[in-house]
Amino acid sequence: TGTATAATGPDRAPGGASVLATTLGAQAAESGRYFGTAVAAGKLTDTTYATILNREFNMVTPENEMKWDAIERSRGSFDFTAADRIVNHATARGQRVRGHTLVWHSQLPGWVGGITDAGTLRSVMNNHITTSMAHFRGKIHSWDVVNEAFADGTSGEQRASVFRNVLGSGYIEEAFRTARSADSAAKLCYNDYNIENWSDAKTQGVYRMVRDFKARGVPIDCVGFQAHFAAGGPPSSFQTTLSNFAALGVDVQITELDIAQASTTAYANAVKACRNVARCTGITVWGIRDTDSWRTGQNPLLFDGNGAKKPAYQSVMSALAATAAPASDAAALASAAVPASAAVPASAVSARNTAAALPTSFTWNSSNILLSPKSDATHTIDGLKDPSVVYHNGKWHVFATVANAAGYNMVYLSFTDWSQAASATHHYLDRSAIGTGYRAAPQVFYFAPQQTWYLVYQTGNASYSTNPDIGNPNGWSAPRHFYPSIPDIIADNMGNGGWVDMWVICDSANCYLFSSDDNGHLYRSQTTMAQFPNGFTNTVIAAQDSNRYALYEAANVYRVQDTNQYLLLVEAIGSNGRRYFRSWTSNSIAGSWTPLAESESNPFARSTNVSFPSGTWTTDISHGELIRARNDQTLTINSCRLQYLYQGLSPGAGGDYNSLPWRLGLLTQTNSTC
Ligand code: XIL
Repeated sequence: TGTATAATGPDRAPGGASVLATTLGAQAAESGRYFGTAVAAGKLTDTTYATILNREFNMVTPENEMKWDAIERSRGSFDFTAADRIVNHATARGQRVRGHTLVWHSQLPGWVGGITDAGTLRSVMNNHITTSMAHFRGKIHSWDVVNEAFADGTSGEQRASVFRNVLGSGYIEEAFRTARSADSAAKLCYNDYNIENWSDAKTQGVYRMVRDFKARGVPIDCVGFQAHFAAGGPPSSFQTTLSNFAALGVDVQITELDIAQASTTAYANAVKACRNVARCTGITVWGIRDTDSWRTGQNPLLFDGNGAKKPAYQSVMSALAATAAPASDAAALASAAVPASAAVPASAVSARNTAAALPTSFTWNSSNILLSPKSDATHTIDGLKDPSVVYHNGKWHVFATVANAAGYNMVYLSFTDWSQAASATHHYLDRSAIGTGYRAAPQVFYFAPQQTWYLVYQTGNASYSTNPDIGNPNGWSAPRHFYPSIPDIIADNMGNGGWVDMWVICDSANCYLFSSDDNGHLYRSQTTMAQFPNGFTNTVIAAQDSNRYALYEAANVYRVQDTNQYLLLVEAIGSNGRRYFRSWTSNSIAGSWTPLAESESNPFARSTNVSFPSGTWTTDISHGELIRARNDQTLTINSCRLQYLYQGLSPGAGGDYNSLPWRLGLLTQTNSTC
């Protein structure tokens, strides 16, 4: 099999430097990180504030609105109004949210501080955690479960607090265990200040706790370094501290960055410390303009009181970009196993590779046939193909191509459980405004900024329909095209192939449209989040292979949750004539793709690494989709126990291609380590 080589396209400036992104969030996303800010609900109506917030940041931390005194002012009476305002504002714009904070000695209502009975305090603490986390379940990226529990000074011990005094030092462990049961999807963090200098007793105390938690299996996923710095910025050991914590097996984040007087050097040093540690997944500054800061008079932020960018802003942008530029020539691209590694110290490169939670080989079990065509009075269907699937409101929603000798259209069905899939009603989408004629290979996702579902499909052009309600098969709009006509680069390269299998994925700044040509080329176009679905341009060859069958069609691109990785799958036709999938990873959607499991002997999914406990019904593992962790335009997957919905075919079937009896089945990964 050949190797797909990444192409340099117009998004790369001559000389190979990548064009700088124009916002903090987009620049951080270039290396798979987020850039966030603390937000005050009361300022969302300030238009200068909201304009900067919406433009620059892709992570949000409520500055005070999720604290105990805001949420449970009196026992058992919860008020999420202000926090919800922030969460809704963020979610509607595709920004993620850090939950701050569940258990903290400060901003704690007097009624909690006055509890002296351990049984009472224990149930009060657990109820506060459970009720708060349940309210925001599914909307929080990371929770600061416990905040500032360690003492300043030389003791390295926990500080005195009502929790420590009444419950003993085990309360932190209890809080994390309760938190994991309340929301198994959110990352659970310990957050503190003055733990940036490696040799400080407080840093060492927190480090010992995290090491102990990891050793004993107490659930903890991340450590937040507040990073409220004096004018000199971070201590010189900050990067060491971050990488030492990361080596324990947790993510690290800078959670509340601000620096007195905001010197450019100090900010650059803080950003670089994170940028050089693979498991440092993001940076949050503690406010937007200097006038928003809690550190009155210290001007510690990136925007001045008028909302203008300060010199520190440019310095942060440059520091974020410092290592993002891949080499310019193809040979260097091909040999750059870790594209962003240029400035990553050698010791961190292996950490970056292991932080990629995906394995380098895969094994799977396949279900039996789960879905077959259902013909009706006006539709006689031979093949059910090209599934797209999301889980929403307690149901699986599946879209697929229906095929017969006359051509293609699409079908929708939903069910609560895969065991119910076969009895689902098939709704033919040619009855909606999508209409009759050539429509095939659907891809469905929720575009959060517009609060609308998109169905992307091929019609000879790349087309889409929208629907406010995924559950309403008649709600889809008439097809619209993404391009005025086939882009020249595709027309020039597709030979006697076909233009097929359109796929959209967005990061925090841009949306990308991938497509294939059955002729060895994977194409990629780009537009901004704000312009989507319009403005797709800059079409380039994202990957190619001189053996057209090795890079054939059905390309999928996903973001891997909580890593700096994107995953590319492309369907190939093997030397035995059977379909299978190859895989690559990259640290950005528009980056170069590094082989993961991409050969016939080490495939992503092929008959040779798939077992069929209930009988081998196909030797083709063909066009499908991974089950995603979220439904939105980020196409995020959780790398734990992957599942792939695919089309397969009775090995003896043959004849007219459009009439082949394709059926759908589900692969479940069997070599997952989590
Ligand atoms: C601060 C807020 O910024 C202020 O508005 C509030 O009056 C006090 O708290 N460590 C933390 C943050 O974890 O929650 C604090 O935020 C700053 C220090």
